[in-house]
Amino acid sequence: YLLLCFLFRKMVHLSFQKKTILAPMVRVGTLPMRLLALDYGADIVYTEELVDKKMLQCKRVVNDILHTVDFVSPTERIIFQTCEREHHHVVFQMGTSDAERALAVAKQIENDVAGIDINMGCPKEYSTKGGMGAALLSCPEKIETILSTLVRAISKPITCKIRILPTLEETINLVKRIEKTGVAAIAVHGRKKEERPQHPVHCDVIKAIAQAVSIPVISNGGSQEFIREFQDIHEFCNVTGTSSVMIARAAMWNPSVFRSTGVLPLENVMRDYIAYAVRYDNHYTNTKYCLCQMMRDHLESSLGKRLQAAQSTQEICEIFEMIAFFKKIRNEQETKKAELECAGLV
Ligand code: FNR
Repeated sequence: YLLLCFLFRKMVHLSFQKKTILAPMVRVGTLPMRLLALDYGADIVYTEELVDKKMLQCKRVVNDILHTVDFVSPTERIIFQTCEREHHHVVFQMGTSDAERALAVAKQIENDVAGIDINMGCPKEYSTKGGMGAALLSCPEKIETILSTLVRAISKPITCKIRILPTLEETINLVKRIEKTGVAAIAVHGRKKEERPQHPVHCDVIKAIAQAVSIPVISNGGSQEFIREFQDIHEFCNVTGTSSVMIARAAMWNPSVFRSTGVLPLENVMRDYIAYAVRYDNHYTNTKYCLCQMMRDHLESSLGKRLQAAQSTQEICEIFEMIAFFKKIRNEQETKKAELECAGLV
């Protein structure tokens, strides 16, 4: 019976083998970007890092107009939004430094996501000051407690994302300890805590990690040197000895990097992105931020300047000549809202 349960869990659970993955990215990895990455061919999409304490203040709200599940803060801000389309593909990345809090958040979102990841790689102060992100790398006992608590109590796969440590020996020791907790996979950003994104990625270290453990290792850190389009992913997997890869910046610059048939022109990608932003009523400041990341070298163009000045989703749609689409979707949403109000459902 136990064997059958084990096999069943393996079958229904997300696998991390041979997968192309959208990396967690603060502000970038919100719902429109995740859905777009899936459309273009990503197998798994990670959310931006969401901090446990913030999540614990949220209430879960089913939005029947947008067909989403929203986790809403006391100030009515949507902290995490998800929908059916990504249900079997979305991994929720958590910022935490405490097993009890991590478990409480994991329970809160368990049925709405396909997996849960613990961020152990973010070197930014907002993460490390609370003992989260890369600060965890120097507390292996805490890592073990958090991960084994989640693995034991949560029915979805648990993963973690790390950076490499100062020496290979320390890194291998750490990943072996992590493997023993029962996590489904480890994502490795092949840089040390103090190294910046422009520094070369240590593919040899990722390779040594992949050889040292038997769970899937997801290689990360190849956007600058390796990955411009889908075909380059293969090369990065080769040099890192992994079968799965996680892409951050290359996907932020052009999410169609996930297309096996080649990247699309940015104008098309930006319009696809805006369409999702309108459909899911994404906050315009977040939409603008993501579009600016895509336009990075052209922000001084007249289009770039207009985008930077935009103060609403409607204005963004005007700039990209999508106002008819904007009006159509908003009308549909208004109609749906009126129907639900009539039925006394909102
Ligand atoms: C990141 N990164 C990151 N990592 C993480 O674990 N949680 C997060 O929330 C974020 N946020 C984030 C935001 C932005 C804008 C960037 C560019 C990066 C790090 C990211 O996931 C990845 O590890 C690195 O960018 C290296 O991979 P690439 O960019 O070489 O593919």
